Amino acid sequence: MVEHEPEPKRFSPKIPVQLDPPKYDPITVEELSKCDGTDPNRPTLVAIKGIVFDVTRNQAYSPSGQYHVFAGKDPSRALASSSLKPEDCRPDWYDLEDKEKTVLDEWFTFFSKRYNIVGKVQDATNY
Ligand code: HEM
Repeated sequence: MVEHEPEPKRFSPKIPVQLDPPKYDPITVEELSKCDGTDPNRPTLVAIKGIVFDVTRNQAYSPSGQYHVFAGKDPSRALASSSLKPEDCRPDWYDLEDKEKTVLDEWFTFFSKRYNIVGKVQDATNY
């Protein structure tokens, strides 16, 4: 697997995205898990460092998409370490190396320029 990280020039989307004001309503881990793209009545959500992004419009997170493994979760650890393993799709990132923490922060920037913030994970201890 070729590892890749968001390149600085890619932080900003080519086509500008009009974002809504961020909402920080608490979302439980259970509700988040239901928002994995399998329920047409729910949005598709991905959290980074406890902040929840609505990624519904990107098919990459749908059940047939290449990044579906991240949907309905806080996969901060996987993003930081360029992993697509389900077992790495968990929120804890404190023990990672500085380089990985930087990569994670870059992904946060990447997402925040593309997707609306719709909540924060309730009881998340790591944001
Ligand atoms: C063979 C390996 C891989 C290839 C060829 C690949 C390719 C791509 C491409 C072409 C994009 C779109 C970039 C853009 O929109 O500017 C992308 C986005 C992305 N990749 Fe990968 N990738 C690979 C592996 C990984 C791995 C291991 C991860 C784990 C962290 C990952 C996470 C992501 C994420 C989170 C996005 C952003 C999707 C979005 O637009 O919301 N990729 N990848």
